[in-house]
Amino acid sequence: MSSPPIRAVLGALVLWSAACERPEKQPPPSTATTTGPASRETVATVAPTLDVARLDALFKPLPSRFESPTSVGTPAKIALGRMLYFDPRLSKGQELSCNSCHLLDKGGVDGEQFSKGHKGQLGGRNAPTVFNAAGQIAQFWDGRAADVEEQAKGPVLNPIEMAMPDPLYVLRVLRSIPGYTAAFAKAFPGEKDPITYDNFGRAVGAFERGLVTPTRFDTFLAGQREQLVPAERDGLARFVSTGCANCHSGPLLGGTMYMKLGLMTPYENTKDQGRFDLTKNEADRMFFKVPSLRNIADTAPYFHDGSIKDLPTAIQTMARLQLGKTLTDVEVGSIVVFLQSLSGKPPAEYIAPPALPPSGPTTPAPDRT
Ligand code: HEC
Ligand code: HEC
Repeated sequence: MSSPPIRAVLGALVLWSAACERPEKQPPPSTATTTGPASRETVATVAPTLDVARLDALFKPLPSRFESPTSVGTPAKIALGRMLYFDPRLSKGQELSCNSCHLLDKGGVDGEQFSKGHKGQLGGRNAPTVFNAAGQIAQFWDGRAADVEEQAKGPVLNPIEMAMPDPLYVLRVLRSIPGYTAAFAKAFPGEKDPITYDNFGRAVGAFERGLVTPTRFDTFLAGQREQLVPAERDGLARFVSTGCANCHSGPLLGGTMYMKLGLMTPYENTKDQGRFDLTKNEADRMFFKVPSLRNIADTAPYFHDGSIKDLPTAIQTMARLQLGKTLTDVEVGSIVVFLQSLSGKPPAEYIAPPALPPSGPTTPAPDRT
């Protein structure tokens, strides 16, 4: 059964891997033609071919910034947003900043299943990375904030996160810090009263829109195919042929749509119903935003409930829940290798903690109650 289709597949494989030496692991053609249960492992060692033409339809290189259509990211606005991002005085106890749960030197996450907020309270969802978040259709696991500008206004007032009592209190704090009066005026020139809660969101958003993490995958997509080593390209081919890219596509490999978690096999933890809890629409039960897979190797634990500790388990679980497939360890490992190529960092100077403006005489004291 040395069938032509198999030879065609192997031929294409050789083309795909052209110019790069493949490791000696490549099985002889005959093993790929065996059938029956035993062949599954063997066949799995032969990477599927990648339709290069489909790549451009499925993925896009990251832009240098995700620019807002309504709020231009001027240097003054970005610099102000950076200070606000790192400023714990925007929390009731003055112990928590955005960077407490989304550490910019740790992949934009805190590595916890659930983050500790005001007085150590735990939320019910895993904190996603802020890296590239601005490029998604919406923010939060359920998409309840339209963009990063709107999102930023949430955690500050969330009683189990930064726990500020109301927007006016936030503005009182900001106005009490002389350096912020000057920085808001510079960031929002011509505005009579630039210190507003919306402008707080706009400044933080402007900063987040530059938290972009391009990697070799982007130069690969731009045409420099040698930027991914053969094992990474095999993993990419596996990722596409398995069906992962049906949902995880676009520049972020995710963030473009909502999907039911447990499409083929129900998800066990139904406590959090995702978008249904927001819309009360039956059709939205267990629908969550398809998360970005950029930097995924750095953002464990996984899933909205942070219940999955490592990447291989996340991949295997996805295949089962979303595609009704069981992957071999070799297949999972190959996808891991590809996903690892998606880890990048924003420029070091962009995420360096800034000097914060000193408090003024009327700046409220921390409230740990
Ligand atoms: C106490 C921990 C905590 C703090 C402090 C915090 N966050 Fe979050 N953040 C979370 C959690 C948890 C979620 C997910 C909540 C959800 O989806 O319902 C989240 C979600 C987000 C998202 C959405 C990402 C996505 O992929 O949908 C962004 C962006 C974000 N936070 C930015 C910020 C900014 C900016 C600040 C400061 C103003 C901040 N966070 C403060 C824990 C925190
Ligand atoms: C039908 C759509 C769909 C398909 C197909 C799919 N996913 Fe997902 N993926 C999702 C959704 C939705 C989530 C969010 C899960 C949650 O809410 O906990 C997710 C979450 C993930 C996560 C965890 C992300 C995080 O930040 O916690 C990883 C990793 C992942 N998918 C990888 C894959 C891989 C690899 C494949 C192919 C084997 C795949 N996915 C196939 C929709 C899909």
